Amino acid sequence: MRPQITLSYAQTLDGRLATRSGSSQWISGPESLRFAHALRARHDAIMVGIGTVLADDPRLTVRLVPGRDPLRIVLDSTLRIPREAAVLRDGAARGTIVACVAGAAPERQAALAALGATVLALPPGPEGGVELTALLAALGARGVRTLMVEGGARLITALLRARLADRLAVCVAPKILGEGINAVGELGLTRLADAYTLQDVTVTLLGADVIVEGRLDLGA
Ligand SMILES: NC(=O)c1ccc[n+]([C@@H]2O[C@H](COP(=O)([O-])OP(=O)(O)OC[C@H]3O[C@@H](n4cnc5c(N)ncnc54)[C@H](OP(=O)(O)O)[C@@H]3O)[C@@H](O)[C@H]2O)c1
Repeated sequence: MRPQITLSYAQTLDGRLATRSGSSQWISGPESLRFAHALRARHDAIMVGIGTVLADDPRLTVRLVPGRDPLRIVLDSTLRIPREAAVLRDGAARGTIVACVAGAAPERQAALAALGATVLALPPGPEGGVELTALLAALGARGVRTLMVEGGARLITALLRARLADRLAVCVAPKILGEGINAVGELGLTRLADAYTLQDVTVTLLGADVIVEGRLDLGA
């Protein structure tokens, strides 16, 4: 069974996840960052794409609230992840899975394993990258029941396009960036009636940010 997936990210009022140059730290305020860490602590695993690791070098830990660090997962087809990335450094590798495409650089697979990371080699997806259904099945088989996906834009978009997300928890910060990286890219929806919707919505004010949470209805 695949894990239940929560998409969670911070965006500006105009829907940007980052500036055009990829800078996103920090769009949200300190209260929202604590909220994000509390949400991490309630999930079995946190997942990001390699683009986020290369841009932000996140630690993907629970530091701002009491709680257990979830398993970390990085989607990285060709194993571009630097060995000094925060999710691998100082023993962190032991709690990190790097998911690549089968056959990706065997020497890099071995180097990651030597650091203590788990390398999951999976089939390629139809649009490149790692095949998401196979990935989720492999995570489910490893006991991951709940998965929080923090970004970036390509991964969020791929999961929404494949209708593989169950909940959304978005922090909307009172900022406008203009051109930048859209939180959600092309979904192939042409009719307003086909728009994905949030159900059972809660809205919380945290500092100057608004947290919008709910169950995703992705249609047929
Ligand atoms: N505001 C926020 O909350 C927030 C959160 C996270 C990130 N960000 C920002 O988002 C930006 C990074 O976003 P991004 O879109 O460039 O990168 P991303 O979504 O983090 O990573 C995308 C990469 O993951 C790999 N991947 C492997 N399998 C995939 C699959 N099935 N679907 C999608 N991706 C797959 C691909 O690289 P390979 O082909 O090499 O495998 C792909 O290019 C940064 O600027 C970061 O600061 C903001």
